[in-house]
Amino acid sequence: MEAGYDMMEISGIVGYLIANFVSKFTNKRTDEYGGDVRGRSKIMIDILKGVRKEVGNDFPVGIRLCAEELIDDRGGNTPEESLETIKIADELGVDFHSVTAGWQESPVSVITRDCEMGSWLYIAERVKKHVKAPVVMAYRLFVPEHPEEAIAAGNLDFWEACRPMIADPALPNKIAEDRQQDIIPCTACNLCLTRLFRDQPILCMVRPNLGHERDPEWGYYGFEPAPEKRTVTIIGAGPGGLQCAAVAAERGHDVTVYEKEDHIGGQAYTASMGPYGDDELMRPIRYLEAQCKKHGVKFELNTVASPKIFPRPHTGLPTPGVIVLATGATPRAEHLPGSDKPNVVNCLDVVESKVELGEKIVIIGGTAMGVSTAQFLAHKGGHDISIIGEQKKLGMDIDASYRWRYMKKLREGNVKQYTSTKVKKIRDDGVKIINAEGKEKIPADTVVISTMFSNDDLFFQLYDFCEEIYMIGDSVAPRNITQAMREGYLLGMRI
Ligand SMILES: Cc1cc2nc3c(=O)[nH]c(=O)nc-3n(C[C@H](O)[C@H](O)[C@H](O)COP(=O)(O)OP(=O)(O)OC[C@H]3O[C@@H](n4cnc5c(N)ncnc54)[C@H](O)[C@@H]3O)c2cc1C
Ligand SMILES: Cc1cc2nc3c(=O)[nH]c(=O)nc-3n(C[C@H](O)[C@H](O)[C@H](O)COP(=O)(O)O)c2cc1C
Ligand code: SF4
Repeated sequence: MEAGYDMMEISGIVGYLIANFVSKFTNKRTDEYGGDVRGRSKIMIDILKGVRKEVGNDFPVGIRLCAEELIDDRGGNTPEESLETIKIADELGVDFHSVTAGWQESPVSVITRDCEMGSWLYIAERVKKHVKAPVVMAYRLFVPEHPEEAIAAGNLDFWEACRPMIADPALPNKIAEDRQQDIIPCTACNLCLTRLFRDQPILCMVRPNLGHERDPEWGYYGFEPAPEKRTVTIIGAGPGGLQCAAVAAERGHDVTVYEKEDHIGGQAYTASMGPYGDDELMRPIRYLEAQCKKHGVKFELNTVASPKIFPRPHTGLPTPGVIVLATGATPRAEHLPGSDKPNVVNCLDVVESKVELGEKIVIIGGTAMGVSTAQFLAHKGGHDISIIGEQKKLGMDIDASYRWRYMKKLREGNVKQYTSTKVKKIRDDGVKIINAEGKEKIPADTVVISTMFSNDDLFFQLYDFCEEIYMIGDSVAPRNITQAMREGYLLGMRI
């Protein structure tokens, strides 16, 4: 109140203090703070009464409780027990209920992109039937259509949003102004949460200026025009190239993006073909496309950028100006004997369903790319899949809040996992491997290369065609969308 807030929401979810008392998963007490639902809810009752006494009746106080703990396998509360606690809070006169699903220990996905937007709304609907106070809810309500529909149907009273507002704090204003194409869309990647849990400065995949809202050069409220308008040639329309183009063009530069494919998105386009909600990875691409168009970026699709398409230096013809290589990375394995055999394909073509696959498949590469490909194939079904990584553990570059789910899908799909293992040779009928247990041959009809290498050749070919040349994203080192967008943004700010 003293800080000027208009209301208060007391959080008692996912394993925080109140939740630890309310749940029979954690509350083993035998005193008045344990036992049945009312006993386990006593701490909440005490807190609510105490807070009300302090703030008075005119200050709205709500409580956030789990309506489904989703830890039934570990002896957590049943949904009926959770509802009892919510009803007790209602009797105490809370001004609203924020209802949630899941604990941090839940063995199912709750807020990652494999949970469809709007899929938890049934919880609000159920609680609303039993309480007097308004019911509010967050949890994967990323676009206004879902909460609006639920509110219209009388199943929800208010829309809460956490990550969508981290990704774009202006979200409500943009909706009110009917500017949905300008909303920076959260992808539910959970990087913000992961970093917070590790006491690292918060970062957002889709909004590189998070935490820099008060620094004018980061452009949260828009950019000042660049001191000099320049020609900027961006090669590659993946997340990095598009982000750089959008910012550079907003600052007034004359920007052209060259893309060899007939579509934009780069690897994010491929990734979006994965199962489990991966199509949402195209939301930031569509947002960046809209921003590029708004600021006059020109696109040359179906165009391979090379020294052939730019005027030779010293001809007096206009130069490409500042060249930005956002050419990404490609799966390659030239170093492996047999990698040119007809049974060898690359992971991008596999995920885009462009290639025929045999029954037995060996995936070479144990980072996120190999694991994503294995998950894709396991979901597709009908294949006997093995994955081989040189690392001690597979997929360690996947965000922790996703990795466990990927690994679960691999186990459920009976994917054979080889770690600390090197591939020595690809043969017509499989691959030869070596690890601490010795040498072995893994039979395969198809071998999938998922070891990524940067596309950096153009740097040496083009550096004397232009005034300046830069590299961003996977063209520097194969990584992820966050780094590509971040580097694109930073460079766009500085050109
Ligand atoms: C299946 C899969 C799943 C993934 N899952 C995730 C995920 O969950 N989270 C995450 O953060 N990242 C994920 N990634 C990785 C992520 O997509 C990449 O790290 C990111 O797209 C890199 O962005 P970029 O702009 O640097 O390069 P890219 O996305 O690779 O884009 C480079 C672009 O340059 C174009 N290009 C290259 N050479 C030329 C040329 N000479 N002329 C014209 N155009 C050229 C390419 O066609 C491409 O469109 C995934 C990738 C794949 C394939
Ligand atoms: C960075 C971050 C910090 C959070 N901190 C809290 C918290 O302190 N208390 C809480 O009840 N929920 C917290 N949450 C959960 C959110 O309030 C919200 O319930 C969750 O992100 C799902 O809603 P969303 O899909 O709108 O993001 C946090 C979420 C994020 C991403
Ligand atoms: S980091 Fe990821 S989950 Fe968090 S707000 Fe940004 S896009 Fe959403």
